[in-house]
Amino acid sequence: MSKVTVVGAGNVGATVAECVARAEVANEVVLVDIKENFAEGKALDQWQTSPVNYFDTLITGSTNDYSKTAGSDVVVITSGIPRKPGMSRDDLIATNAKIVESVTQNVIAHSPDCIIIVVSNPLDVMTYQAYLTAQFPSNRVMGMAGVLDTARYRSFLAMELNVSPKDIQAVLMGGHGDTMVPLPRYTTVGGIPVTELVSEKRIDEIVERTKNGGGEIVKLLGTSGWYAPGAAAAQMVEAIMKDSKRIFPVCAYLSGEYGINDLYLGVPVVLGRNGIEKIIELQLNESEMALLNESADAVRSVCAVLDTL
Ligand code: NAI
Ligand code: 2OP
Repeated sequence: MSKVTVVGAGNVGATVAECVARAEVANEVVLVDIKENFAEGKALDQWQTSPVNYFDTLITGSTNDYSKTAGSDVVVITSGIPRKPGMSRDDLIATNAKIVESVTQNVIAHSPDCIIIVVSNPLDVMTYQAYLTAQFPSNRVMGMAGVLDTARYRSFLAMELNVSPKDIQAVLMGGHGDTMVPLPRYTTVGGIPVTELVSEKRIDEIVERTKNGGGEIVKLLGTSGWYAPGAAAAQMVEAIMKDSKRIFPVCAYLSGEYGINDLYLGVPVVLGRNGIEKIIELQLNESEMALLNESADAVRSVCAVLDTL
């Protein structure tokens, strides 16, 4: 009996649950929320799509009853407040750190062997918080950001070149914030380096749009997005449940990789049944390394706020 739990049945959490159920990578998806009957309602509505959307993964909901999540293989944590216009992801830290801490305690009490994927913002710091609370080996605690950020970058490039987004491959590193580091040198379109197809000026503009990709949606909707974030987290769940060894940019604990220690940061990894099975160390050039270090410093300064809470 395989089980995936999604904590937080809001915009992102509900989307993760639906995508995971439709991928049929677990027998059951359990949605949990603190709001009375909210997760139950969302789960029931989603389960009623099963005959139409043709999946048999049972979706159930629970108001804060973690016994229902017992024995989960993967737990996705999306609980917390999202951004409003004018807010940065870092403005969410005080509220979300407490939520992530208490949720993680509840999760590990019932699923001591699970793999945790954090989605709540500020992402890199909330992932660190979950790691500190869970005291799991670092391969079993990770954050979702890079799959979303590269998806945005790839979708913008697909529009620019009028080609299928399926054919665009990219790596993006660093924190989930304005200092994220898209890497045009490692971006290909059907195997062709993007630098041969798009001018440097346009690539720079697309990189800038990617860095502001979350904010662009917040301006349009008044809250952050959920379709792309939900699909991105579900893709990570699928890679783990199917042990498919996919290579994704994931927020991972670094202990010496890229010369960085004791920090969660976006890097390319191999994802499989053991969680992060390998961190891939790219041969970054001097300017790419400088950008990564700048991003690491930005994440470190937000991490320092955790100590003051
Ligand atoms: P939302 O407000 O729609 O949903 C959050 C849910 O968490 C609510 O239903 C709320 O009742 C629930 N919740 C709050 N405290 C809880 C607790 N202690 N236990 C269980 N449930 C609790 O927000 P949305 O849009 O789903 O965003 C969720 C989080 O994900 C935000 O922090 C947002 O910034 C972040 N996010 C991260 C992304 C990423 O790339 N890592 C992308 C998009 C959003
Ligand atoms: C996003 O990138 C706000 O982190 C959220 O959409």
